[in-house]
Amino acid sequence: MPVTAANANNLDALWMPFTANRAFKRNPRMFAAASGMYYTTVDGRQVLDGTAGLWCVNAGHCRPKIVEAIQRQAAAMDYATAFQLGHPAEFELAGRLTALAPGDLDHVFFANSGSEAVDTALKIALAYHRIRGEGTRTRLIGRERGYHGVGFGGMSVGGIVNNRKMFGTMLAGVDHLPTTHNLEKNAFSRGQPEWGVHLADELERLVALHDASTIAAVIVEPVAGSAGVLVPPVGYLERLRAICDEHQILLIFDEVITGFGRVGASFAAERFGVIPDMITCAKGLTNGSVPMSAVFVRDDVYDAFMDKSPKGAIELFHGYTYSGHPLASAAALATLDVYKEEGLFERAHLLSPRWEDAIHSLKGGANVVDIRNLGLMAGIELAPRQGKPGTRGADVFAKCFDDGVLVRTTGDVIALSPPLIVEEAQIDQIIETLRKAIQKTA
Ligand SMILES: Cc1ncc(COP(=O)(O)O)c(C=O)c1O
Repeated sequence: MPVTAANANNLDALWMPFTANRAFKRNPRMFAAASGMYYTTVDGRQVLDGTAGLWCVNAGHCRPKIVEAIQRQAAAMDYATAFQLGHPAEFELAGRLTALAPGDLDHVFFANSGSEAVDTALKIALAYHRIRGEGTRTRLIGRERGYHGVGFGGMSVGGIVNNRKMFGTMLAGVDHLPTTHNLEKNAFSRGQPEWGVHLADELERLVALHDASTIAAVIVEPVAGSAGVLVPPVGYLERLRAICDEHQILLIFDEVITGFGRVGASFAAERFGVIPDMITCAKGLTNGSVPMSAVFVRDDVYDAFMDKSPKGAIELFHGYTYSGHPLASAAALATLDVYKEEGLFERAHLLSPRWEDAIHSLKGGANVVDIRNLGLMAGIELAPRQGKPGTRGADVFAKCFDDGVLVRTTGDVIALSPPLIVEEAQIDQIIETLRKAIQKTA
């Protein structure tokens, strides 16, 4: 029997994540099916997906090749022990991924979520310095408004106040770079803003304050996603890379959102030509179909573990029961095939000027104070209502949903990230629905 709002009657049993549970349960919105660019609601309405699920379904929903690969793998071998044993698909996947990644990011560690990938990368950074005899390097540097998931490590280096105030005080020795978001200087920039490269120099200030010998790693999203699509100023990532090199600090790019074509390249690292020491990714890795995440690691970091650990010892005391899970590996391999066969990263790149023009046509709309974009992602920032932050964004979301388009809001910022298969007419539908909703909530 299909799940409908009527037979899912015990709504109270489920404690929903990052959700206003009481409001949702008064007015539940539920999807029952998905295909290509569309969701179908439990009452049979089609909703155009303007957000690739949650920044993850980059090739569109329920792609037959991916579905079949998961079905085949589930029938052939459901699970293989992840520790001290393996299975071919995870090795094949690691090889395919490292071939895709730029530079010498030649090694991959698998986890199951973006949060786990982030905590894995932070742990690798700490362990790396320690095995090299620099165990004093324990400090981790994040950035204001950064989102790195909900593990204690990720929340601590993250810069989202609602995470930090409750849970972000548990990890000692963390500091933050300033956000690059500045409405006065950068509002309505197309692509990378011109202003703000000097904000990377704040890392020099933190080095002067704490001393490089205490700093293990810097982690940033190359384009901040969850905080509302914040595109790095021209030269900013390059400058961070140079300062990290100067002080032997590891640089981690959190590409959970920007990986797998979202910015018109395999990774933002490729798009910007800046190679970090580690990349975390998730979401688009399996097209959202089976949970999986990964940490890419550069040769010299991986080699340090292999060279310096005692013979026969486990080199990194870390892992998950489901690292490299067979279903996830099969889904990811099929996903990579679809990306390649359909040239979706290139497609995103080619479509991005059209996307940029469409998004920026919303300038001048009621309360629109900024529009930002890169690749096939965009943020539209609305001025908050006096004393009621977030309510304007929530109203825009609801109106768009009622009118058949799924958008995402974080506070009063509307974030868009359609599947990379989006057609031009669907871009127009997203924009026109949004334009109406923005006017309606003036
Ligand atoms: C940049 C970034 N890092 C980490 C995460 C956490 O991923 P997950 O929700 O899979 O744990 C997210 C989720 O949106 C993210 O955007």
